[in-house]
Amino acid sequence: MLLNAMNLKKSYHDITVIDDFSFHIDSSEIVVLVGRSGTGKTTLMRLLNNLEKADQGTISIEDAVLCKQGLKGAEYVDRKKRRLYQNKIGMVFQDYALFPNLSVLDNLLEAPLAQKLGSREELAAKAAGLLEQMGLDDKLEAMPSTLSGGQKQRVAIARAMMLNPRVLCFDEPTSALDRESSDSIGKLIQEIAAGGTGILIVTHDTEFGQQYGTRIVSSSEFVKNR
Ligand SMILES: Nc1ncnc2c1ncn2[C@@H]1O[C@H](COP(=O)(O)OP(=O)(O)O)[C@@H](O)[C@H]1O
Ligand SMILES: [Mg+2]
Repeated sequence: MLLNAMNLKKSYHDITVIDDFSFHIDSSEIVVLVGRSGTGKTTLMRLLNNLEKADQGTISIEDAVLCKQGLKGAEYVDRKKRRLYQNKIGMVFQDYALFPNLSVLDNLLEAPLAQKLGSREELAAKAAGLLEQMGLDDKLEAMPSTLSGGQKQRVAIARAMMLNPRVLCFDEPTSALDRESSDSIGKLIQEIAAGGTGILIVTHDTEFGQQYGTRIVSSSEFVKNR
């Protein structure tokens, strides 16, 4: 098991969105999370990416722990250990969240340079390799605003891959794409999974989910008796 989340609970004020839900992702799995709007899919993804804190439960990826169930609820590890966990998970946002004022190459270099994961030369070589794999080798110097939706999505994926995540999460990756671009993103996700990365995809696109998912999970399981 790669990612393991046990007995998660998350409430906003008096609304319990996730109640005693356990979940895992294995290496090379493409887990597709489906369910009605407002049922907590984005919340689960944000918990796994430490963008939101769980009230209760345990979350880990391999030997890196994010939080552990304690007597009074989820206890989060200190900053240094949290960094170890966060380096194992990446997220591609629905609106891509590219830096509009940076070139494609600089979008990819920003986080690994800030984290001192290598020299600019080493990281630029890695970025060029990833962009070539994604058919974007002629876009290194392009600004995000000049790219199509499918190309922006690919840049966002390459940017996440720069940090070598063991788990990669996608929130509605095809919502802004036509069928052809969706298929090429689906195939790219399959290639990433074949390399051993575990994938979590939230989608309303059932055709996409059935074609590319290896397991479907419904957000109706987040709360018992919903
Ligand atoms: N930051 C927040 N503050 C208060 N309520 C929130 C917050 N984020 C989400 N919610 C509520 O939690 C529920 C689940 O939201 P969300 O995870 O976005 O669902 P989904 O992604 O399945 O559409 C909704 O009722 C939403 O209004
Ligand atoms: Mg959502």
